[in-house]
Amino acid sequence: MQQFELIAPCHFGMESVMKNEIYDIGYEITEVDDGRVTFAGDAEAIARANINLRCAERVLLKVGSFHAESFEDLFQGTKALPWEQYLPRDAKFWVTKAASVKSKVFSPSDIQSVMKKAMVDRMTEQYHISHFPEDGVSYPVRVFIKKDEVTVALDTTGESLHKRGYRKASVKAPIAENLAAGLIMLTPWKPGRILVDPFCGSGTFLIEAAMMSAHMAPGLRRHFTAEGWTNLIPGAVWQDARTEAEEEIDLSVETDLQGYDIDPAAIAAARENARLAGVDKLIHFQVRPVSSLSHPKKFGFLITNPPYGQRLKDATRGGEKYPVGKHPHAYESEFDEELTEEDRAISKEELSGIYRTLGERFQMLDSWSMYVITAYEDAEKDLGMKAAKNRKLYNGMIKTYFYMFPGPKPTAHPRKN
Ligand SMILES: C[S@@+](CC[C@H](N)C(=O)[O-])C[C@H]1O[C@@H](n2cnc3c(N)ncnc32)[C@H](O)[C@@H]1O
Repeated sequence: MQQFELIAPCHFGMESVMKNEIYDIGYEITEVDDGRVTFAGDAEAIARANINLRCAERVLLKVGSFHAESFEDLFQGTKALPWEQYLPRDAKFWVTKAASVKSKVFSPSDIQSVMKKAMVDRMTEQYHISHFPEDGVSYPVRVFIKKDEVTVALDTTGESLHKRGYRKASVKAPIAENLAAGLIMLTPWKPGRILVDPFCGSGTFLIEAAMMSAHMAPGLRRHFTAEGWTNLIPGAVWQDARTEAEEEIDLSVETDLQGYDIDPAAIAAARENARLAGVDKLIHFQVRPVSSLSHPKKFGFLITNPPYGQRLKDATRGGEKYPVGKHPHAYESEFDEELTEEDRAISKEELSGIYRTLGERFQMLDSWSMYVITAYEDAEKDLGMKAAKNRKLYNGMIKTYFYMFPGPKPTAHPRKN
């Protein structure tokens, strides 16, 4: 089968996890850049990557790259690409997203119109027609320009991969599914180990962990733009990739996954989402405040996203938030329409109390590890502990840190509790 260069954009800081996931499904990495990993693969790889990758935002098929310091360069570079190898004559094609950083060419709307014109010119010459009905299948184009180097790709995914299709019940401030999966993979937690999220909200961490435990591919319940590209990917390839993923699922696995939240509506939503994901039997959800957090066993993990207090009553604390387009990584952020924030105002005292309680309850858990993603700047102070490590990440447009408090590793034969 024809080989392509495929690009998987992911959250900034998740590149190492993204690389491992791509290796795990059997493909060679060719390049790693901030927020994206490039790999080599055929049509089957497009289907398998879309269905199986947990922390990717989408899968792009690279059409080409070139240097451009002016719109004329952009026009000529785009026109020189072999569009007719990808787009059938009835294709609907347009530049759906243009992003530019540290480059002479930067206006997204001008980039979009110049490139569309260049694509039409190329197709006119190749297909010998002057009017394109564009009444066929969609081939959305994405372009990113960094230091005048233009990379042009087709979006094989469509709606972002973090939309697995299981989150129907809405709650406040949910974490993106692919970010939750990536964060879990940044920790030493593995299927079979205990995992508790004491601020579980809609249950994202637990649902993602349950899907990993059951070897359930994240993309089995949704569709992808490239399913319509029969000129490049035969329909049987998608069918085979889905069958392969279905055959991997094992719902008989032993799990200890627990989600707690003070809000009964959040727990109801979490249960409904877990049911829609097909993993409700693997997770226990319960209304419980963090002040009652406890667990009888050893060597468990807390992986959690406590309230940040984005809209504090006194408006003095919380994470930095960027207006759309002003994000420091806006040029290649896939997430700028995904602002997440708390609906409810929360006072500094309340927030501080929540983190102090979490710190106290964690100290009472024997030999546990804790991983906390938050934008709350006094997190370590109020938890009463200095993290062994932390990692800066963007949750939507909000700058957050992932604080890591690893506990001891279980011995080869841990004592029974
Ligand atoms: C940022 S949200 C978590 C979102 C979650 N990760 C998701 O993906 O839906 C924080 C959650 O903490 C819960 N919460 C606030 N105070 C709490 C407390 N004292 N004990 C337990 N949960 C609490 C809120 O109800 C909210 O659902």
